[in-house]
Amino acid sequence: MTKINENYRKLPGSYLFTEIARRVTAYGQKNPDKRLIRLGIGDVTRPLAPAVISAMHAAVDEMGTMEGFRGYGPEQGYDFLRQAIAEYDYQARGAEIAPDEIFISDGAKSDCGNIGDIFGVDNVVAVCDPVYPVYVDTNAMAGRAGEYSEAVGRWSNLVYMPCTAENGFAPALPESKVDLIYLCFPNNPTGAVATREQLQAWVDYAESRGAVILFDSAYEAFISDPSIPHSIFEIEGARRCAIEFRSFSKTAGFTGNRCAYTVVPRDLERGGASLNTLWNRRQTTKFNGVPYVVQRGAQAVYSDAGRAQVRETIGFYQNNARVIRAGLAGAGLTVSGGENSPYVWAKTPHGMGSWAFFDLLLQQAGVVTTPGAGFGPSGEGYIRLSAFGGAEDTAEAVERIRAVL
Ligand code: MLT
Repeated sequence: MTKINENYRKLPGSYLFTEIARRVTAYGQKNPDKRLIRLGIGDVTRPLAPAVISAMHAAVDEMGTMEGFRGYGPEQGYDFLRQAIAEYDYQARGAEIAPDEIFISDGAKSDCGNIGDIFGVDNVVAVCDPVYPVYVDTNAMAGRAGEYSEAVGRWSNLVYMPCTAENGFAPALPESKVDLIYLCFPNNPTGAVATREQLQAWVDYAESRGAVILFDSAYEAFISDPSIPHSIFEIEGARRCAIEFRSFSKTAGFTGNRCAYTVVPRDLERGGASLNTLWNRRQTTKFNGVPYVVQRGAQAVYSDAGRAQVRETIGFYQNNARVIRAGLAGAGLTVSGGENSPYVWAKTPHGMGSWAFFDLLLQQAGVVTTPGAGFGPSGEGYIRLSAFGGAEDTAEAVERIRAVL
């Protein structure tokens, strides 16, 4: 009899955003006349930048010619894109990252999960609480998380680093021994950022213990404070202890296009093996690359026009974040995030549970949010609001929420 991966049986319920979609669909079926405003999942709504569109059109035309046609591309991504990333995202910020340390992929979500392939199953994994559920669920699938307790909402073998209002949503360095440390800044879901000093402390910690930091900076484009690093590789020593995940999804509206990248420095070795070599081995075996047309579109994000257009769109979302923050704070809610992040993290009123407040806003305001408890026990008592909606919808959602409060 074929045996399944028993780890899947241990996973609680469904993936967070699937459960939210289920509740929203049920509400929509019961209330077909109500117009829902979605500030839940962090999915972009603005069209692609004109520079991206023309580059993709040109790439499609190339594919229609004998000379320009391309079959399988390099699994690691085309050099034109790896070079643009190295230059603009790293070297321009004083981070020494070479094109062959950059692996183009179809998403930071996939890479954050897939990276586990190159690490032993007995590594101890540390995650923030609340946390982007992909880090936790993929480690559970791999057998690294132990057993899940419904009562406490935690896995037995994971080390949780609480991010609470008390510690300014900044996780403390773990006291117990950990091997893999997932960090996400600007943070999903709290919207908090990490200062240079805080990141230096993480790098020093990881280096001194032989741990590896898995740094998700998918939201770096939303950093407005010039003192905040955009990459872990702006930090001295990170080349020896960190892997970074980045994405064009939130930066350039690519959630439907699928293009991201993972940086694995050549200096990063564990057990005498180069992690860059291992990841290359993994990718060449299991992945056939991102479509040429999409990679040409991503390259155009770095053109003069592309950079200006993308900045404008980010500015649009940043303005939504300001509207959400100001509106909810004005209505008496305690809010954080949203200043260097597209996510606003709001405390529920009167000590209400996250899911109860989520349901209340769905039923009475017709606004979809994300319940903080879905990101882990320390998210209980919070909801997350996404700034990726339209400007009018965002303003209306805030008004509707205020009316309910
Ligand atoms: C979120 O809402 O947390 C994000 O959309 C998740 C993702 O990027 O996969």
